[in-house]
Amino acid sequence: MHFYYLSTFWILTSNSLTSATPSKGRKTCTVKASGTNKTDDAPAIRSAFSECSRQARIVFNPTTYYVNSVLNITGLEDVEIDIQGTLLWSTDIPYWLNNSLPVGYQNQSTAFVLGGNNLKINGYGTGTFNGNGDYWYEWIRQQPNSSNYPGRPHQITFNGLTNSIVKGVNFLRSQMWTMSIIHSHNSVWQDILVNNTGNKFQSSNTDGADTMFSSHLHFHNWTVHNGDDSISFKANSTSMRLTDSRFHGGLGIAIGSIGQLADVFETVQDISAANVYFQDTLHAFYVKTWTGDRNGYPPNGGGGGRGFASGLRLTNLTTRDVRGAALAVSQCTRFKGAPGQGNCTNSRFQIRDVVVEGLRGSTKSARVASLQCSAVAPCTGIALSGVDLRFGNGTAVGGYLCGHVGVREGWDCTGEVCEGGSATGEC
Ligand SMILES: *[C@@H]1O[C@H](CO)[C@@H](O)[C@H](O)[C@H]1NC(C)=O
Ligand SMILES: *[C@@H]1O[C@H](CO)[C@@H](O)[C@H](O)[C@H]1NC(C)=O
Ligand SMILES: *[C@@H]1O[C@H](CO)[C@@H](O)[C@H](O)[C@H]1NC(C)=O
Ligand SMILES: *[C@@H]1O[C@H](CO)[C@@H](O)[C@H](O)[C@H]1NC(C)=O
Ligand SMILES: *[C@@H]1O[C@H](CO)[C@@H](O)[C@H](O)[C@H]1NC(C)=O
Ligand SMILES: *[C@@H]1O[C@H](CO)[C@@H](O)[C@H](O)[C@H]1NC(C)=O
Ligand SMILES: *[C@@H]1O[C@H](CO)[C@@H](O)[C@H](O)[C@H]1NC(C)=O
Ligand SMILES: *[C@@H]1O[C@H](CO)[C@@H](O)[C@H](O)[C@H]1NC(C)=O
Ligand SMILES: *[C@@H]1O[C@H](CO)[C@@H](O)[C@H](O)[C@H]1NC(C)=O
Ligand SMILES: *[C@@H]1O[C@H](CO)[C@@H](O)[C@H](O)[C@H]1NC(C)=O
Ligand SMILES: *[C@@H]1O[C@H](CO)[C@@H](O)[C@H](O)[C@H]1NC(C)=O
Repeated sequence: MHFYYLSTFWILTSNSLTSATPSKGRKTCTVKASGTNKTDDAPAIRSAFSECSRQARIVFNPTTYYVNSVLNITGLEDVEIDIQGTLLWSTDIPYWLNNSLPVGYQNQSTAFVLGGNNLKINGYGTGTFNGNGDYWYEWIRQQPNSSNYPGRPHQITFNGLTNSIVKGVNFLRSQMWTMSIIHSHNSVWQDILVNNTGNKFQSSNTDGADTMFSSHLHFHNWTVHNGDDSISFKANSTSMRLTDSRFHGGLGIAIGSIGQLADVFETVQDISAANVYFQDTLHAFYVKTWTGDRNGYPPNGGGGGRGFASGLRLTNLTTRDVRGAALAVSQCTRFKGAPGQGNCTNSRFQIRDVVVEGLRGSTKSARVASLQCSAVAPCTGIALSGVDLRFGNGTAVGGYLCGHVGVREGWDCTGEVCEGGSATGEC
């Protein structure tokens, strides 16, 4: 159903995307580059978008644009955005900590807000957003709390993006999360490379993509090298599809964290992933919720939220050297620097109707699954088939650890799961 809808969308949009020549009759604004990072190119970018905000085309030439200040570009209508060069964010960390824009979620902030209807953003495989993250990865190591540091910006936030496509863009060394996607619907991101591998230091919180309050998004042909969630579907993500992608070094596909806001009801529904390859990731697929108790406030504290994640379907997952349980649930999310301890089994957020069909490859962990669920709202309807995980020496792995798992299909629990605070699944 969704596949049909999305592939129709794809065909309709692909002509204009692959065409490098300007569409006839379209007003075009070409952004001028200053050529030096001493001069901020953001004013030129803002003025191009303000002049070419409707039925128009914006061109970034094959050169480097220096982005030294925040961008908030929303309300575009039918705009083609050609990115032939690189947007490079400045290294002035105190400026960004002071001035990053609110994302509208989890007290997080961002360097760039972009939104509109019917946008076609094409990087032709070379267009690049470079967050200059090497500076951030070195700096965050020196901070007392390195998780979700207030004001550390996401590279870009798509807010209010609808009926749009982002294609062939590279996202390098994001300052923090690569992209947050919020209040966005019916859009596609395809042929995307995220590489948050630092040249000197590595960093966590470098998620590939995070979605919230969004629906009908399709992520196709992604390659992600990073140190945190490869992709994460968070509060009120509905009908999300991930296909034909490769994840390296991060944590795998995440649902959550969720349940962070006391008494707030949030859901994650109808998520599917097919043909995904995981190399050296911690998990293939994992779910993380906060506990039933509130301890502190977001971004690093919280808990006590309600809701459910349901209709999670994973098909044809291939692993190479995954580092932990390929499938994991932890309902005891806690970040470094967060107050309180809490109870790992009292979450009121339920995980149900999860189908895994095909999970094959190599692992370094004796656990196929580690499911630490809530006693108050136990996990249920967990169906696994076509599982064949092996150690490097060829020995099959058969550990399925459970805590409060109800209806199971195609597998059995082999032991008790570990209960303990975690931001990454397992203890
Ligand atoms: C400008 O580039 C130089 C050399 O790469 C770098 O040291 C400096 O931090 C940059 N300045 C800004 C504001 O990005
Ligand atoms: C950050 O904000 C503080 C307080 O408003 C101000 O004193 C300081 O100069 C600002 N720093 C930068 C780099 O903008
Ligand atoms: C961005 O600009 C829009 C339109 O002016 C405004 O409504 C919104 O609050 C701004 N967003 C941020 C994060 O400043
Ligand atoms: C993290 O450290 C910063 C700077 O010291 C501080 O402002 C912030 O409140 C801290 N956050 C937490 C959750 O400890
Ligand atoms: C997948 O995306 C990459 C760019 O990240 C591109 O080089 C490659 O051709 C795409 N693959 C397919 C099958 O389109
Ligand atoms: C990712 O970036 C690192 C650091 O610059 C580089 O060594 C590596 O080759 C890059 N990987 C890809 C796939 O581009
Ligand atoms: C999130 O989804 C739930 C369930 O569909 C709904 O009750 C809630 O209002 C939504 N929250 C927001 C902020 O959209
Ligand atoms: C399973 O996914 C792999 C990529 O990870 C792909 O090469 C293979 O063709 C897929 N198999 C099927 C049956 O789609
Ligand atoms: C954002 O963080 C501040 C300081 O930690 C906290 O007081 C506030 O409640 C948080 N706001 C939200 C919406 O979480
Ligand atoms: C944790 O919460 C569960 C559910 O309310 C309860 O059964 C259990 O006794 C609690 N554990 C502790 C150590 O308080
Ligand atoms: C295979 O590797 C596992 C994990 O290192 C080890 O526990 C097991 O004994 C090995 N089996 C054989 C037959 O070498």
